[in-house]
Amino acid sequence: MAFRQKHLLGIEPLHPDEITALLDVADRYVDLSRQPNKHSDALKGLTQINMFFENSTRTQSSFELAGKRLGADVMNMAMQASSIKKGETLIDTALTLNAMHPDLLVVRHPHSGAVDLLAQKVNCAVLNAGDGRHEHPTQALLDALTIRRAKGRLHRLNIAICGDIAHSRVARSNLMLLGKMENRVRLVGPPTLVPQQFREFGCEIYDDMAEGLKDVDVVMMLRLQKERMDGGFIPSEREYFYRYGLDADKLAHAKPDAIVMHPGPMNRGVEIDGTIADDINRSVIQEQVEMGVAVRMAAMDLLARNLRTDREANKGVMV
Ligand code: NCD
Repeated sequence: MAFRQKHLLGIEPLHPDEITALLDVADRYVDLSRQPNKHSDALKGLTQINMFFENSTRTQSSFELAGKRLGADVMNMAMQASSIKKGETLIDTALTLNAMHPDLLVVRHPHSGAVDLLAQKVNCAVLNAGDGRHEHPTQALLDALTIRRAKGRLHRLNIAICGDIAHSRVARSNLMLLGKMENRVRLVGPPTLVPQQFREFGCEIYDDMAEGLKDVDVVMMLRLQKERMDGGFIPSEREYFYRYGLDADKLAHAKPDAIVMHPGPMNRGVEIDGTIADDINRSVIQEQVEMGVAVRMAAMDLLARNLRTDREANKGVMV
């Protein structure tokens, strides 16, 4: 079996073969999700707990749907209302949950590294649903699946990731994944939002959209992460849209069949023009959402298989 991980904490530890194996399984779950009967028993008998310490619409609902389609018992913890508000530490919350014997724990947290820490304290598979500016592995995997299906391959493509790179866990996870699969990645945005140290990922950096988008196969737009900014990164949203917002004129520099992506939620008229986002000939934003459910089904299925193998090997002892 090609996928050997116990947790899915980031893209960094994954081997390219593991990425391919996961995407292959996800392709099959896309087919299943298009059937009238969308159920499988892959997670039957298992308990999945979703803990979102940060707001989320699509990621949380996508994980919930993925678990339900695979037959898991899914519980969403309302973290805003939980004991965290009363001062309980992350570790105490984790230990309390652990005593309920979850098999899969899906965690989103505002602090980079918090999900890794939690994974060391529990006896189940942990999936990172986004930790601070660090990683968002299932987003990168769903983006990869979307690209692979639209372009017929996931290597030797020219891909531009544009906008607020500095605050984006989506950009970091995508940079790692697309690099591992041997693509050429460019980062495009104002110098305040594209730190030079990102060059260590082996990408080129542009501060001009016309140059940065020239002849690319994929244009990935990112949201301005205002909640992670403490002021002063851009002069004004209007000015930002004028220079860096994706509109038809800027997109004309990319290849004629280039696809447009965005992880959502979108700020229309800030990083992307609404008509481009809605153009079904260019935008694959809705496909990204569909692939999100399938990728999360695949990730949980593969982790559950490894969990069962581990438990079998440790006969009777919970691992
Ligand atoms: C992203 C996230 O939360 O990191 N969104 C998502 O998962 N759908 C990107 C963002 O918030 O801009």
